[in-house]
This record gives sequence, C-alpha cells and structure tokens, in this order.
Amino acid sequence: MRRGFHWIALAVVHLAIWFFSGSMAGDSQVYDPHALDEFFQQFVNRTLHHPRTGVLYNITLPGRYSGMEVSVIRMRSSTFWVRGTNLSAFYIPPRVILKPNVKTLGIIYQNLRNWSSSYYQVPGYRLVVPVVGFIAFDASKSDGVGTQMLNLTVTGNPITVSFHPNRTEQGNNTVACVKFGYNGTAFLSNVTSPNSCVVQGQGHYSLAILIPPSSREKEKGAWRWWVLGLAGGGIAIILMGLCAWAVYETVMRNKIRGMESESERGIPLEVTWVRRSRMPSASMLRTQPVFLESHVPFS
Ligand SMILES: *[C@@H]1O[C@H](CO)[C@@H](O)[C@H](O)[C@H]1NC(C)=O
Ligand SMILES: *[C@@H]1O[C@H](CO)[C@@H](O)[C@H](O)[C@H]1NC(C)=O
Ligand SMILES: *[C@@H]1O[C@H](CO)[C@@H](O)[C@H](O)[C@H]1NC(C)=O
Ligand SMILES: *[C@@H]1O[C@H](CO)[C@@H](O)[C@H](O)[C@H]1NC(C)=O
Ligand SMILES: *[C@@H]1O[C@H](CO)[C@@H](O)[C@H](O)[C@H]1NC(C)=O
Ligand SMILES: *[C@@H]1O[C@H](CO)[C@@H](O)[C@H](O)[C@H]1NC(C)=O
Ligand SMILES: *[C@@H]1O[C@H](CO)[C@@H](O)[C@H](O)[C@H]1NC(C)=O
Ligand SMILES: *[C@@H]1O[C@H](CO)[C@@H](O)[C@H](O)[C@H]1NC(C)=O
Ligand SMILES: *[C@@H]1O[C@H](CO)[C@@H](O)[C@H](O)[C@H]1NC(C)=O
Repeated sequence: MRRGFHWIALAVVHLAIWFFSGSMAGDSQVYDPHALDEFFQQFVNRTLHHPRTGVLYNITLPGRYSGMEVSVIRMRSSTFWVRGTNLSAFYIPPRVILKPNVKTLGIIYQNLRNWSSSYYQVPGYRLVVPVVGFIAFDASKSDGVGTQMLNLTVTGNPITVSFHPNRTEQGNNTVACVKFGYNGTAFLSNVTSPNSCVVQGQGHYSLAILIPPSSREKEKGAWRWWVLGLAGGGIAIILMGLCAWAVYETVMRNKIRGMESESERGIPLEVTWVRRSRMPSASMLRTQPVFLESHVPFS
C-alpha cells in the first residue's frame, strides 16, 4: 500500500519536472556559438601545421562535434586579392581588402548542419538551411591559419553565399537571409537571387522562414497539455483503485479482527501463528553474539 503511494508520488514529481522544464526552457538545448568559434580556432591551431597554400583542408573534429563540418585554407594575400576564393557555399570575389594588410591569410569555414538550431535561433523564424560561416585570420606569423582576426572590405563584386533549401520544408514561404552578429543576434534581409544572400563580411549566415503566429506556440504547447492530461487521468484512476483497495482491506481487516476476537475465546491456534511470524527476528538476535565473539580475540 505504502509502496503504491510512493510510486505515484515519484511519478507526479517527474511529470511536474518534465512539464515545467519543457515549457520554460524550450525543447532543445541552446549552446554558445561564440565559444564554438573559439574552439574551432584553437582546434585548428593545434592540429593543422604547414598546410599547402591555396588548398582547402577538411578538419576531422572530435566525436562530440560529429555532424559539423570545418575546413580551412591558407592563402597568399596577393593571390586572394587577384582571384578571390570559393569556400563551399561562399563565393569571395577578387578585390577584397584585408585590414590590417598582411602577407598571408587563413580562413576557417564552418557548416553546422544538424547542430545549427542548437547554436543559432531567430525569434519567430525557423531556419530552413544549416548555418554556414567563415572567419579570416592573419597567418603571416603562424605555420597554420593564425589566430589574429582580420577585417574584410569589399571593393569589387559582393561576397555571396548560396543555399539549397529543402523544397518540401520551405513550402510556399518566402525565405529571408539571416546574418548572425558576433553575439548571436540575428539580422534579417531580403534574398538577392533565389536562395542567395549578399554578405557584408565574415560571420555566420542562414535562411529562415517566418513561423505563422497562429501555429507558433500553440502546437508546441498542445501535446504537452495532452500528455499531462492523459498522465493525470491515469494517475487519478490508479489513485482511485488504491483507495478502493485500501477501503476493501480495512473492511476485511475489521472483519478478520472480529473473527479473531471471537475465536480467541477457545482456540489457542492463533498463538502458534504469532510465534512463527516472530521467528526470523529471534534467529537474527541469536546470530549477533556469535559475530561479536569472533571479534573479541582480535580487539
Ligand atoms: C571535404 O568535405 C566535403 C563535404 O563533406 C567534401 O565534399 C569534400 O570532398 C572534402 N574534401 C576533401 C579534400 O576531403
Ligand atoms: C548530429 O548528427 C550527428 C551524427 O551525424 C550526431 O552524432 C549528433 O548528435 C547530431 N547532433 C544533434 C544536435 O542532433
Ligand atoms: C568560384 O566559383 C565561381 C562560380 O562557381 C567561379 O566562376 C570562380 O572562378 C571560382 N573561383 C575560384 C577562385 O575558384
Ligand atoms: C597556435 O597559437 C599560438 C599562440 O596563440 C601560436 O604561438 C602558435 O604558433 C599557433 N600554432 C599554429 C599551428 O598556428
Ligand atoms: C574590425 O572591425 C571591427 C568593427 O567593425 C572593429 O571593432 C575592429 O577593431 C576591426 N579590427 C581591425 C583589425 O581593424
Ligand atoms: C526534405 O524534407 C522532408 C521532410 O522534412 C524529407 O522527407 C525529405 O527527405 C527532405 N529532402 C531532402 C532532399 O533532404
Ligand atoms: C503552394 O502554392 C500553390 C499554388 O499557389 C498551392 O497549390 C499549394 O497548395 C501551396 N502549398 C502549400 C504547402 O501551401
Ligand atoms: C548584440 O550586438 C548588437 C549590435 O551588434 C546589439 O544591437 C545587441 O543589443 C547585442 N545583443 C546582446 C544580447 O548583447
Ligand atoms: C524586402 O523586400 C520587400 C519587398 O519585396 C520590401 O518591402 C522590404 O522592405 C525589403 N526588406 C529589406 C530588409 O530590404
């Protein structure tokens, strides 16, 4: 009986924790994108030495980051000025000025794939493509891609980033370009050509669609209430069952007690039953002296 109530109390506590943690913190965990950038930078600094200039290297990340894609390229600034470069989704045209002007630069490119919405969110919008980004560094004093960040200034054609959104996921919604600021703040702008964005400089970019206000929080919250209702109902039924059982047991016990007090008048059978039920505690008491005795010589 007590075990039953204990179990139900546990279930109620767990349900409450699940319900409130879910409705307060949202469904997915949120990570710090700035810390991720720093990790990439340090990891590349540790693992990549003497890369050939002008060659894009894929970095193999530790298992915890599996799914993310990081690649790096080391270039001479003169080549970068004359030819620009292509980094997967990004097209960096010629005639981009580096500040400060260095001899060699390194670029870290990243695609967060299935981790995108764990690191970057746009309130009221849903990302329809993975977040991609690039950051340029001064590699002149390093045998890798360097650690000092550079600023880029476009003087020719703009830097662009092209995406390939999933048609079925996008539906008939118009997509907007998203730029994520250094602190994770999102800035929206119109797409330039279908699924392409003009990019002001280094940073993180994606495409997003507006979530219709009607379905924004409703459907998310609805199933939670459903589960809560169903679980609550289930617990209520179990409680009612337990109460019924408790009432039944009490009634039966009273009945038996009545029979016992009746039978006490002539039959000594009850005494043996009581004795047998006390047997285990008696035998336990008997073993203890033996245990103590065996320890006496040692102490
Ligand atoms: C780097 O990874 C991308 C995407 O996974 C792949 O398409 C490309 O071939 C890889 N490049 C090298 C040099 O391994
Ligand atoms: C992304 O996918 C990888 C496997 O490709 C998996 O290990 C990782 O847990 C996934 N990340 C998230 C946030 O779902
Ligand atoms: C980058 O890609 C564009 C088109 O995809 C191409 O015209 C250009 O030559 C490429 N640039 C480099 C440096 O590979
Ligand atoms: C890594 O960074 C340290 C200082 O931050 C620098 O001394 C070292 O040369 C870098 N290593 C590579 C491979 O860039
Ligand atoms: C790069 O630009 C940012 C703001 O746009 C500025 O705070 C920073 O000092 C610049 N860095 C360099 C090396 O010019
Ligand atoms: C697009 O999204 C739908 C639903 O999320 C999925 O079934 C389909 O496989 C996706 N297509 C591609 C090409 O990723
Ligand atoms: C998209 O628009 C077309 C025509 O305007 C319509 O037939 C289709 O049902 C729409 N799809 C969705 C998912 O709203
Ligand atoms: C992030 O930076 C932008 C300007 O770049 C600023 O408007 C915004 O308030 C900042 N947000 C936070 C949370 O610091
Ligand atoms: C995007 O384009 C629409 C018209 O197509 C315009 O009304 C809106 O101001 C534009 N937004 C931005 C941020 O340029």
